[in-house]
Amino acid sequence: MTDPIQHIQSLLPPRNTRRDTGEAYAPANIALCKYWGKRDTRLKLPVTGSLSVSLGAHGTRMTLRRAEADALTLNGEAVAPDSRTFRRLFAFLDLIRDPAHRLAIESHNTIPIAAGLASSASAFACAVKALESLYAWNLPPQLRSILARLGSGSASRSVFEGFVEWHAGSSPDGMDSFAEPLAPVWPEFRIGILTVSEAPKPVGSTEAMERTVRTAPLYEAWPKQVEHDLPRIRRAVLDHDFITLGETAEHNALAMHATMIGSWPPVIYWLPETTAHLHSVHRLRAEGLPVFATLDAGPNLKLLYTAEHEADVLRNFPMLIQIDQNPTP
Ligand code: PMV
Repeated sequence: MTDPIQHIQSLLPPRNTRRDTGEAYAPANIALCKYWGKRDTRLKLPVTGSLSVSLGAHGTRMTLRRAEADALTLNGEAVAPDSRTFRRLFAFLDLIRDPAHRLAIESHNTIPIAAGLASSASAFACAVKALESLYAWNLPPQLRSILARLGSGSASRSVFEGFVEWHAGSSPDGMDSFAEPLAPVWPEFRIGILTVSEAPKPVGSTEAMERTVRTAPLYEAWPKQVEHDLPRIRRAVLDHDFITLGETAEHNALAMHATMIGSWPPVIYWLPETTAHLHSVHRLRAEGLPVFATLDAGPNLKLLYTAEHEADVLRNFPMLIQIDQNPTP
């Protein structure tokens, strides 16, 4: 079998070398049914499918310029060439760019820093789109998603707006593991971020995921959880059934964290405030307010609610950062 990455590269169109800049934007996304665990670490093939909502104007904007040497600035600050961020991004670009091209990159995150959402998903999705702009390509959307997936799994979903499903696929070369748009943004649906800590994570998501798959006996139950949750969440998005969506998304996130806590050494992202906020969410629900929580690989919560209850949710969580999901202007 041809190497799967070489196969993907063979599908890229000829590069237009007359342009010397490329520019793009990609939104961040929050998974409602999470991706947790790879079946192939090099190709970033997931064990299960997942489903997310894109964060509209909150994401990454990038400009690439042909240059003498590779360089990167993040929100205006130069990033050192020996840093992990620099090396990871350029190793990814090397899979796609002309080997002779050096690039100066300006990357801007439009996600509020305090939201602790500076996500790799929007950055890798944006890098693919910016290369597309540089080389005057118009890639088939599935190939765009597959390329972004090679940077970071969740980036496969960030090449689209609205509600997006990433199909796990079953082929060893990953050509059937790509994301597709499921539905546009639902105007009444709301997401808010409750920041508990902006400190760097004690364990990165790549390591945490691998450790869970390798050492957590509970991980065996995770594909069954997704098998139950994914179709329910998909249906709830299509039907605008907020309660089913909220309940299933919260259960899914808590089950994901349970598998991590069950690994060894344990991965415990929660801080005392994380638990306190979860208890508040549960108390408010018992009092009749439809608000749900989801959490990614970190201590911060994302609250899910609808426009109808926005004022009540904000009154109870005054530090909530509301995320406008309307697509990029
Ligand atoms: O794509 P990665 O390696 O950053 O992993 C993302 C993992 C979660 O955010 C926890 C879940 C998800 O589906 O986005």
